[in-house]
Amino acid sequence: MSLEKKDEHDHEGWMKSRDLTPVETTYLTALMWLDRRFRIVDYLELLETLYYRVNLQMPKSHTEQYDLDNKFWYWYPLYALGSFSTLAYVVAAISGALLGFYYSPATTGDPSTAYNSIAFIMRDLQFGFMLRSIHRWSAQVMVAAVFLHMLRVYFTGAYKEPRELNWILGIILISLTMVFGYTGYLLPWDQLAFWAGQIGVEMSLSIPLAGEWIAQLLFGGFSLTQATLQRMYIIHVFLLPFVVTTLIAIHIGIVWVQGIAEPH
Ligand code: HEM
Repeated sequence: MSLEKKDEHDHEGWMKSRDLTPVETTYLTALMWLDRRFRIVDYLELLETLYYRVNLQMPKSHTEQYDLDNKFWYWYPLYALGSFSTLAYVVAAISGALLGFYYSPATTGDPSTAYNSIAFIMRDLQFGFMLRSIHRWSAQVMVAAVFLHMLRVYFTGAYKEPRELNWILGIILISLTMVFGYTGYLLPWDQLAFWAGQIGVEMSLSIPLAGEWIAQLLFGGFSLTQATLQRMYIIHVFLLPFVVTTLIAIHIGIVWVQGIAEPH
């Protein structure tokens, strides 16, 4: 819908001159109310122009180029793995935010407050057992889906020019997905968490030259303390969600701009 310049200040007259249904009238009244205040029609038109510009630049897809008549290719279901990773990520984010209402990252007490808050979720909280299970399952499904998605991209040759940058972004994403897993694993502050943390400290310390500095930065020292748990917590619930959400948006944005690669 486009409004002509001379009609700009006579929206009501413009509407009356047409035979509109109540739904159309409500929609247009709301749109005009917003447009008078925020010029949204201008911005919508800008988006529309951008959409067509971007699509005009698209190279022809393999099926178009070789006139393959959009044949169904038997690997196509595997092209859903990227979206499946995104879905698992969203489920983990929502269940994680809900777990955050009950979890407390404190090492004080024996067993610690952190451990006790997990015990509370598992034993006393209504549907707590289910909530924690959904979070752990979606996290593990995400790791598996991201890995299989990477295999699909590799075996269809989708990493080749012009998609190298998205491949590199993917490498960063799979690494951060694993950091998500590791930091989350430490949060219950149980025996598994504690010794996995210890291994992390030793691994950091084994890095030449920067080892001690890295252990200090990531684990807050060379043994496991409150500083360690607090760092894992902030990385898991604050830093990574921002970074990974942004990177996934850029990753999918690039797929939208470049179009999906046809198998070579
Ligand atoms: C959090 C992890 C990731 C998410 C949510 C994600 C999401 C997606 C989605 C939705 C697509 C569209 C096509 C499809 O679904 O197959 C895609 C395409 C792509 N992804 Fe990922 N991805 C992730 C990790 C990776 C990894 C680990 C790599 C490789 C190292 C990678 C490389 C690519 C490439 C090159 C494409 C373009 C493929 C084509 O055009 O056919 N991605 N990604």
